[in-house]
Amino acid sequence: WDSLQKPQPPTHGEKNNVTHYKQYPPNTSKMYSYFECREKRTDSTKSRKVKYDQTVFYGLQYILHKYLKGKVVTPEKIQEAKEVYREHFQDDVFNEKGWNYILEKYDGHLPIEIKAVPEGSVIPRGNVLFTVENTDPECYWLTNWVETILVQIWYPITVATNSREQKKILAKYLLETSGSLEGLEYKLHDFGYRGVSSQETAGIGASAHLVNFKGTDTVAGIGVIKKYYGTKDPVPGFSVPAAEHSTITAWGKDHEKDAFEHIVKQFPNVPVSIVSDSYDIYNACEKIWGEDLRALIETRSADAPLVIRPDSGNPLDTVLKVLEILGKKFPVQENSKGYKVLPPYIRVIQGDGVDINTLQEIVEGMKQHRWSIENIAFGSGGALLQKLTRDLLNCSFKCSYVVTNGLGVNVFKDPVADPNKRSKKGRLSLHRKANGDFVTLEEGKGDLEECGEDLLHTVFYNGEIVKTYTFDDVRDNAKLKEGELEELLH
Ligand SMILES: *[C@@H]1O[C@H](CO)[C@@H](O)[C@H](O)[C@H]1NC(C)=O
Ligand SMILES: *[C@@H]1O[C@H](CO)[C@@H](O)[C@H](O)[C@H]1NC(C)=O
Repeated sequence: WDSLQKPQPPTHGEKNNVTHYKQYPPNTSKMYSYFECREKRTDSTKSRKVKYDQTVFYGLQYILHKYLKGKVVTPEKIQEAKEVYREHFQDDVFNEKGWNYILEKYDGHLPIEIKAVPEGSVIPRGNVLFTVENTDPECYWLTNWVETILVQIWYPITVATNSREQKKILAKYLLETSGSLEGLEYKLHDFGYRGVSSQETAGIGASAHLVNFKGTDTVAGIGVIKKYYGTKDPVPGFSVPAAEHSTITAWGKDHEKDAFEHIVKQFPNVPVSIVSDSYDIYNACEKIWGEDLRALIETRSADAPLVIRPDSGNPLDTVLKVLEILGKKFPVQENSKGYKVLPPYIRVIQGDGVDINTLQEIVEGMKQHRWSIENIAFGSGGALLQKLTRDLLNCSFKCSYVVTNGLGVNVFKDPVADPNKRSKKGRLSLHRKANGDFVTLEEGKGDLEECGEDLLHTVFYNGEIVKTYTFDDVRDNAKLKEGELEELLH
């Protein structure tokens, strides 16, 4: 943890923004920029299965707390940056004067204002999510200096958004095959810790998944949530004892049954997940669980089921075959929706090859074979936390307004080769129309009284965080809405 907490000098890591202060029009006194997840203007999205029409705004509070608040500019950092950049650019291009001004006038606090939509908000693509502007005319160059660190919010936004889309899929199939949403929050477990690039990625990504779910093995996310958001509960995520291959194979190939028996007996009162494909998943289900240890697991309660984990083969085929074998060995019941349910002491978790597309295929396949989604939970690792890029939601930060020689100008880009890359103009605000739709007003039009409340609130002002959200607020804002569920079912 220690090495994670050390704030990075804001004078570092901003790549080429270092030389931009020399490039703006002379006498610029204000730079105003905004962040959005761009929306397609030309429609060719049919090829992609998941459209990601809306995004979950999450993670700004972490960045502000960890990197931007308080006295972040010091004489030592300025000196170090000056030396590094002299070598890096082979020229004295670093804005030493500008940073010394911030050090002296603001005691090293950043004179910028950031306005943002509440954390956890679910907002359609193509709307402004936050804006940044300098509060001191001398520091016009600072607005886009902080771009790099702020745009890294693409990652928690993308994890939370992709996880929420998976929650929608699970909600739909769970409702259709069981008539209730019970257990939804535990249907997609975070298996991603080992598959991410670093501890910091693990912490941020796992916290973003917990916006929508409560099951995680990436405990780094709990630390991030407790430290940067806070929850009413002691922890925001839970897990269960689980076997891994080593705890089975260490017993030797002829003793898989002994391994299973030993582990099941170790955890009589909580669910226990046992990976059962070390040698032959089908034999394990039929002979070991279905015959040898059948009496042992029949005594387990609904609160402490055995959870069988296949971990190889085509995910859908394997899940269906495992269910079919278990269905022959154990008494299956039909639920009120007419779908098959294993007895409450036995469940399945599929944690291999699970991404949003295979998840959809598996639940659809189960439905077609009349298996209720009550029988299963999923684990997802690399696809949940790492196999994502900024391009998935087209996250971007652009300048939309400047003041030069005292004159405000709406600015934008509109590249001839890609109309999708056109940016918004002028000062922006986000509003909710009477019909519930969100709309971004450009060119300062949102200032008019009839437009109603601006949903962007000041969260950061001159080095202070002035508005915070708890993780409970975040979850509440991001929860599936009634209308969304109805839409999913039709
Ligand atoms: C910048 O502003 C100053 C004072 O307002 C003015 O004298 C000067 O001509 C301006 N420079 C440019 C390049 O417009
Ligand atoms: C989003 O990014 C993808 C991948 O780079 C690109 O193909 C697509 O055109 C972009 N969409 C928008 C709206 O910018």
